[in-house]
Amino acid sequence: MPLLEIDDLSVCVSQDGTDTALVRSVSYVVEPGETLALVGESGSGKSVSSLAVMGLLAKALKVTSGSIRFDGQDLLALSAEEMRKIRGRDISMVFQEPMTSLNPVRSIGSQIMESIEENLGLSRADARARAISLLKEVGVADAERRLKQYPHHFSGGMRQRVMIAIALAADPKLIIADEPTTALDVTIQAQILDLMARICRDHGTAMILITHNLGIVARYADRVNVMYSGRIVETGTAREIYRAPRHPYTEGLLQSVPRLDQDRSVPLKPIRGNPADPFTPISGCRFHPRCPYVAARCRAEVPAFENGVACHFPLDPAQKEAV
Ligand SMILES: Nc1ncnc2c1ncn2[C@@H]1O[C@H](COP(=O)(O)OP(=O)(O)OP(=O)(O)O)[C@@H](O)[C@H]1O
Ligand SMILES: [Mg+2]
Repeated sequence: MPLLEIDDLSVCVSQDGTDTALVRSVSYVVEPGETLALVGESGSGKSVSSLAVMGLLAKALKVTSGSIRFDGQDLLALSAEEMRKIRGRDISMVFQEPMTSLNPVRSIGSQIMESIEENLGLSRADARARAISLLKEVGVADAERRLKQYPHHFSGGMRQRVMIAIALAADPKLIIADEPTTALDVTIQAQILDLMARICRDHGTAMILITHNLGIVARYADRVNVMYSGRIVETGTAREIYRAPRHPYTEGLLQSVPRLDQDRSVPLKPIRGNPADPFTPISGCRFHPRCPYVAARCRAEVPAFENGVACHFPLDPAQKEAV
């Protein structure tokens, strides 16, 4: 049984009496222990679709269709209190900017221990011991002393390690990491992603890794969902997506980022134009104004999602291999 099963999820924002779709009929599953990447440019709906899973949508947003099942439970049917318990124990989230998620006026130790005490019901002494072992696990040296320090005593990379320790406090089944390393410099990014991958492997934790950088996911994700303008436009194993992207948008993303498997002389090519704004109506395929292969049908008809891709004229992997 999949750990997380999202089916036909749509999220709208209501403004001045009109509903605008931010997430459009998204469906996917996450198997226990696997890492699934959600990739797409800014505004594609990665965060909104994930916040819906956490039950943390902003007030103006609402789920207008679909279901979210986690470990056999229908999350959309749970009360706020039941959802809060799931967030503490079973699903946790790591955000981009740890400084905004950590409380600046409380010690790191009290913040980690609070999460442990609340969710696992351990005594203060046991919570402290667990906090120390978690900090060690995420690579914070001198953990006993570090517990007494405040967030501003930590570098950006170290703060992100602390956030990961908090996310791990109750040994969740799923971690949703929303751009966990975007605010960090490149070498630290790799260290944090390596750490998260190791932790997921050691604990059998599943992860949804949200990123706009398709260049990093090959190494860390089992499968990839590519999102554009609220929709999943392509899904596949990381290997399939890298070797033979079928949606022109996926191809565009790959051409716009440096790749580990490519020599540096291949010039990067940004995708032309800007990401579609959800409030602007676009006929047919929402990627058509930017697509280098656009045809009349693309302007007229919304492509169905079939065989892992939502495109009227998917690129042909066989043709690619021959080149
Ligand atoms: N509370 C809100 N009210 C109105 N629009 C919103 C709200 N939250 C998000 N949106 C819009 O929904 C769309 C999807 O946003 P989302 O945050 O999911 O994008 P994202 O893929 O996570 O982008 P990024 O890479 O920048 O984090 C965007 O156009 C955004 O402006
Ligand atoms: Mg986001």
